[in-house]
Amino acid sequence: MAALPFSDREFKVIADIMYEAAGLSFNDSKKSLIHSRLSPRIHKLGLQSFADYIEILGDETQGAEFQMAVDLLTTNETYFFREPKHYDLLQQEFATYGPSRSLHVWSAASSFGDEAYSTAMLMADMQMRGQIGAGWSILATDISHRVLLSAKEGVFPEDRLRAVSPERLRRYCLRGEGPSQGQVLVQDKIRQKVQFGQLNLCKPFDGLGPFDVVFLRNVLIYFDPPTKTDVVDRVLATLKPGGLFFLGTAEGRVPCKTPITPVIPGAFRKNA
Ligand SMILES: C[S@@+](CC[C@H](N)C(=O)[O-])C[C@H]1O[C@@H](n2cnc3c(N)ncnc32)[C@H](O)[C@@H]1O
Repeated sequence: MAALPFSDREFKVIADIMYEAAGLSFNDSKKSLIHSRLSPRIHKLGLQSFADYIEILGDETQGAEFQMAVDLLTTNETYFFREPKHYDLLQQEFATYGPSRSLHVWSAASSFGDEAYSTAMLMADMQMRGQIGAGWSILATDISHRVLLSAKEGVFPEDRLRAVSPERLRRYCLRGEGPSQGQVLVQDKIRQKVQFGQLNLCKPFDGLGPFDVVFLRNVLIYFDPPTKTDVVDRVLATLKPGGLFFLGTAEGRVPCKTPITPVIPGAFRKNA
């Protein structure tokens, strides 16, 4: 199939739409990435050019296609117990709280929910041991409607649970058989502790929280420096003083106005 022409102007229009609506930042070096990720979609829709696609992206009644473009231009990669040291720290932290305290966790940019369900398994174990009470909940949000639909179903390819211990797999998961072989269903007792919702981190999200712990891992890579700082400060505003804040370990420390103290790589405590 012939490569679709893609002018600098068309690149700029798409980059501007993505920045305005989702905070995604694409500099000139990303022109070929946008071309390669969106061209197959344009062909699939039977459109003739990037100009036709831009018309759809700019049409507010075609929100589903905008969502599709965001999905194609970002990665949803995630897996259970990613960055195990973060979960070790969380467990140590919760163990100091005692069973009477209610606990609220936010997995911002949750993708398919692996992070939220991992946290729910950890907390369910701690509740079973009497280290925390039953009053805990997890909110998991993402900009992508598609990943949220899948997250709510709680069905995952086995490989994504490779870091889940055999005991947790037995306690909280069901292995598929027959046509579902190779898939794992997270049991209802874990799924019901996680509430999923659509949320664009680059738009206001007043009224959320306060949370004891917030995960904001592996999403800031898409944002430019001012957007990163703005998002981090607004997310930190939802965190209780003394609460833990997790970024991806590769993301380093993001400049923000809110005072935070590093704990381990990728983990910070909001100053009291
Ligand atoms: C690589 S995944 C991170 C998943 C998980 N936090 C982890 O670290 O394993 C990045 C997620 O960020 C989401 N995302 C991108 N831009 C966003 C925005 N403006 N608001 C909310 N979520 C966004 C994408 O849809 C994707 O699911």
